[in-house]
Amino acid sequence: MATKLKGKTALVTGAAQGIGAAIARAFVAEGAFVYVTDLNDELGHAVAAELGDRARYLHLDVRDESQWQRVTGQILGERGRLDVLVNNAGITGFEQGVVAQDPEHARLEDWQAVHRTNLDGVFLGCKHGIRAMRPAGAGSIINISSRSGLVGIPGAAAYASSKAAVRNHSKTVALYCAEQGLAIRCNSIHPAAILTPMWEPMLGDGPDRAARMAALVRDTPLRRFGRSEEVAAVALLLASDEAAYMTGSELNLDGGLLAGSAVTPAVIE
Ligand SMILES: NC(=O)c1ccc[n+]([C@@H]2O[C@H](COP(=O)([O-])OP(=O)(O)OC[C@H]3O[C@@H](n4cnc5c(N)ncnc54)[C@H](O)[C@@H]3O)[C@@H](O)[C@H]2O)c1
Repeated sequence: MATKLKGKTALVTGAAQGIGAAIARAFVAEGAFVYVTDLNDELGHAVAAELGDRARYLHLDVRDESQWQRVTGQILGERGRLDVLVNNAGITGFEQGVVAQDPEHARLEDWQAVHRTNLDGVFLGCKHGIRAMRPAGAGSIINISSRSGLVGIPGAAAYASSKAAVRNHSKTVALYCAEQGLAIRCNSIHPAAILTPMWEPMLGDGPDRAARMAALVRDTPLRRFGRSEEVAAVALLLASDEAAYMTGSELNLDGGLLAGSAVTPAVIE
């Protein structure tokens, strides 16, 4: 049996589907006990049930500080420790349909709603994660940012802004923990175009689906979507003691997209 996370207790937010569920599966496969948390209780329970007695589902809306207090308190009560926290829950702002998210037309409430989940949720997670890890003096916090946190996105301003802030906050948390003499590491992962339910509203299920998918990855050097399992593999590395010297770092997982740019010439001119 794989044992990279043997004896560790992990909490994954937004783990009812997509990348979060894949991370929960990878962690359990490596011997961790995983708290699968989400807003979507039905899907969250199903993921935990599939993982058996090495997982448990708890409702956690990452925007609500009292829920963070309840969940981390319960984990310390039941397991006596929290070793790994993955702040994965995130929204694009397009979940309820197409709304303006560009810098000129976005409504303040839509801008704030995206930041409440993507940024406030990560702030609260780091805050209560550090507190829960402090008794052991060690741990790994993994924040799922995005390629959109590294470049501007005209049609998704709040998403890009919130993910950029997550990238920076991860470094602040890393330095703070080091300064406190704690072996609590904090790193960010920056995926791009990972095929999850997040993309469904944009892809549709009609005859144009394949063409839309091809168009979305046209500028990706590897010319395909990434898989949730490929993000989970990197989260697993950051969660494990093998990455004990990694903190404040950012890992891109984007099929090579950020290695160049859309205007990179094919030949030297
Ligand atoms: N899929 C991609 O291409 C991609 C690329 C870059 C970054 N990301 C990031 O990866 C993370 C996971 O994305 P995904 O593609 O699996 O998305 P997804 O939409 O498939 O899953 C997101 C999960 O988060 C949950 N969630 C939403 N708001 C929440 C809240 N307030 N509290 C708790 N849970 C909440 C949802 O219920 C859902 O289960 C997100 O932070 C996303 O921004 C995804």
